[in-house]
Amino acid sequence: MCGIIGYIGNRKVIPILLSGLKRLEYRGYDSAGVGYLVNKKLNVFKAAGKISELENTIPDFEEETFIGIGHTRWSTHGAPTTLNAHPHLNGSGNIALIHNGIIENYLTLKVKLKDLGYQFKSETDTEVIVHLISFFYEKEKSLLKAVRLALHEIEGTYGICVVSSLESNKIVAARKGSPLIIGVGENEHFVASDAPAIMEHTNNVIFLEDGDIVEVFNDHFNITSLANQTITREIEKLDLDISSIEKGGFPHFMLKEIFEQPESIQNSMRGRVLLSAGNVKLGGLENFIDDLVGAKRLILTACGTSWHAALVGEYMLEQYAEIPVEVEYASEFRYRNPILGKSDIVIAISQSGETADTLAAVKEAKRRNASVLGVCNVVGSSIARESQAGVYIHAGPEIGVASTKAFTSQLAVLSLLTVLIGRRKNLAFSYGEKICQELLNLPKKISQILYQKDQVEAIAEKFYEARNFLYLGRGYNFPVALEGALKLKEISYIHAEGYPAAEMKHGPIALVDENMPIVFIAIKDSTYDKILSNIEEVKARKGKVIAIASEDDKTIESIVDHVIKVPNTLEMLSPILTIIPLQLLAYYIAIKKGLNVDQPRNLAKSVTVE
Ligand code: G6P
Repeated sequence: MCGIIGYIGNRKVIPILLSGLKRLEYRGYDSAGVGYLVNKKLNVFKAAGKISELENTIPDFEEETFIGIGHTRWSTHGAPTTLNAHPHLNGSGNIALIHNGIIENYLTLKVKLKDLGYQFKSETDTEVIVHLISFFYEKEKSLLKAVRLALHEIEGTYGICVVSSLESNKIVAARKGSPLIIGVGENEHFVASDAPAIMEHTNNVIFLEDGDIVEVFNDHFNITSLANQTITREIEKLDLDISSIEKGGFPHFMLKEIFEQPESIQNSMRGRVLLSAGNVKLGGLENFIDDLVGAKRLILTACGTSWHAALVGEYMLEQYAEIPVEVEYASEFRYRNPILGKSDIVIAISQSGETADTLAAVKEAKRRNASVLGVCNVVGSSIARESQAGVYIHAGPEIGVASTKAFTSQLAVLSLLTVLIGRRKNLAFSYGEKICQELLNLPKKISQILYQKDQVEAIAEKFYEARNFLYLGRGYNFPVALEGALKLKEISYIHAEGYPAAEMKHGPIALVDENMPIVFIAIKDSTYDKILSNIEEVKARKGKVIAIASEDDKTIESIVDHVIKVPNTLEMLSPILTIIPLQLLAYYIAIKKGLNVDQPRNLAKSVTVE
């Protein structure tokens, strides 16, 4: 959700805050603000809208300033207005705070603070924290102590950064449930909600843990716990380079990430496919292989696109690893009474590794003594750290809000997991080898599909004014229908639904008429003949059919309106190919509608609130 950056050092702070906020804009982009100290005086500027709006409000700057905080917001409590934007100030205007998360008991605290005479300017939950800090500062005369005492009063989640003209040589930051890292430079430090904000300055970071409070100075920092115990955390080196978070000549991150897929999927498999053994190696699971082979049940839990990847995983793992699999939305899993046995293993799938519901599901599963594995993209993320073991998908930073390359990499990793477990069971060497070979062939096949981008764009031209879309697929490609529909609604705001094709006659067929585009994933797999019948049913009702078909299908052109061909592969791997034209279709439709595909309305990349 919201993005946080803080800086203290010898360089001018405003350019650092603004460039950091631009890198974080994918986390939230409805309003933004900065707070910094000039001659020990606090200046705060805020604006509704994008970072560019904020930039216009900051006056030309003559004086030098070396300490400040910045925030880009995804609204939860209160509309995206300038008043509700962060930083929030205390009454005397000498303490400024930015916050990511939700304060659940803010109403009770607000009533108490109002009774004590504190005046509120915004509708946010956040503002209570700064007044509480102010309240405790009166007594303690120490920013660190005041923050700690305030946090004792708070229920909910937070990543916060505080600066004050009362103690102008430090930033105080703390986390519980919302990510926060410290970037370590030479005589300078950064605080950020995630790495892209500070990557151009340093790769040396400390991942704060829940309950950590840190006092950050130019040349050192002190981490303590809520109970005021000293904590030592290692500095880790992030293996990321700056080009991975730039557009590299593409008009949008989403298009860049779609086109990166031949490479990103290769990175997900690098060093993991043992072709001559017809097997795979997943270093992160080495100590868990016996447990996985002996597992009675796997529960895959995730949200959004990652949940769709989990559904494909269910098909693969049940077919070739012969384990019963359940797939559950993390938001449901965490609030019901999931019955977990000793030999059940929970696998949490998350691109960001920060999704609040998925993280809570992981904690719930651990509380119930289940083993928990993580399949994450962001190295060092909360879910990766909270899991007992796991596999990184290594897709590289994904900035576009609509997930693309993370999905195909998640599928690649789930295929590897399937082979790993399957080969310890009944999956023959020859079939293991075949899967491995086909996995290695995928990058080339993805490139072949990407060459057809102009054809997909031409189809987008015909349909971008449609009000509704249906996406239908069967078997392994049913989750692809869901994901294709999700891509379209996320970035084009066209209502789109995904269904298993056979379910069409139980309802959706009532919607079919000559204005209804229907995307069929109709490759030559075990359900091909059935899908053809479904297509005929739609054509009989004058629906417009766009088919994703196999390259050697010579007949489908005669029954559908538009075809996009994909190379042949194994059925279990086909979703990695069939999703590519659907990503492109969604992208081009949104572009034709003149929409901002990287920052679609109301969405955020990393959903760190419930
Ligand atoms: C948000 C993003 C989606 C993503 C989902 C789960 O809704 O916009 O693209 O699929 O969160 O995120 P995760 O990081 O856990 O995969």
